[in-house]
Amino acid sequence: MALPLQARTALVTGGGRGIGRATALALAEAGAAVAVLARSVDEVDRTVEELRAAGHRAAGASGDVADATSLAEGLHQLTGELGNIDVLVNNAGVSWPVGPTASIDPEQFAQAVAINLVGPLRCIRLTLPGMLAAGWGRIVNVTTGAANAPGMPRAAAYSSSKAGLNQLTVNLAAELAGTGVTVTAVDPGPVDTAMQDYMRDQPADLIGDQVHGMFQRFHADGQLNHPTQPAQLIAALAAGDVTGEIAAVGSDRASALVDSAA
Ligand SMILES: NC(=O)c1ccc[n+]([C@@H]2O[C@H](COP(=O)([O-])OP(=O)(O)OC[C@H]3O[C@@H](n4cnc5c(N)ncnc54)[C@H](OP(=O)(O)O)[C@@H]3O)[C@@H](O)[C@H]2O)c1
Repeated sequence: MALPLQARTALVTGGGRGIGRATALALAEAGAAVAVLARSVDEVDRTVEELRAAGHRAAGASGDVADATSLAEGLHQLTGELGNIDVLVNNAGVSWPVGPTASIDPEQFAQAVAINLVGPLRCIRLTLPGMLAAGWGRIVNVTTGAANAPGMPRAAAYSSSKAGLNQLTVNLAAELAGTGVTVTAVDPGPVDTAMQDYMRDQPADLIGDQVHGMFQRFHADGQLNHPTQPAQLIAALAAGDVTGEIAAVGSDRASALVDSAA
């Protein structure tokens, strides 16, 4: 039986580690050739080697989603090896800067927006024309529950940029209705990755007692999801045809989407 993403090529930004790495593996298992892009070339290489060792088609490139030239060069290299991108997973993201919102350096805030919100837009602009020409494409953005009220106090750059990503998702989905290109987002819940380690390491006097305590409890109470959980949901959305939805790992809807793709 044909795999759901057979003959498709997927790009996973931030595929060198964490949720992105797990997503690269899940998409490859669903039949896609997988392109991996991030700044840390060692991590990109490791994911690509892992994919190839499992018999999958894969390529990697270093690239910064916040830098137009670096991104275009990385993507040019990847499409040269694997062909046009059919599935774009905008997963690359950062949770810094943290601290009292009015004390945050606006330049750092802008850099977080450049990575978490403008980066996905840059990736969409580079890959959407090929999807539209093919009459088929999938864009899955990786968001967070912190994008919804009450947000994440003292992590306003993160929650604001991801709230913007949610709006990018639903607006673009509406604009692309009927084209064969779907746009969705996944809220992974708390996941055991380097980003989670970083947030757990932030002192209470910087990030506030409430958020500090929340990250300590996620870990101490065994509440962290495994990266394969969001990866499965992302792969299900890439294989399916729903559009305009923001699905949260652990929700009934997410389970139904994963089950229907199995
Ligand atoms: N872990 C969680 O609890 C959690 C919860 C909700 C949402 N998320 C979201 O899930 C996504 C993945 O996070 P993660 O937890 O897997 O974190 P992670 O382990 O820190 O991985 C982040 C990935 O993004 C890449 N990246 C960061 N900035 C980049 C840039 N400018 N250009 C290209 N790649 C960049 C990183 O590689 P380089 O640094 O080498 O570039 C890395 O591969 C993020 O969007 C995050 O907001 C995570």
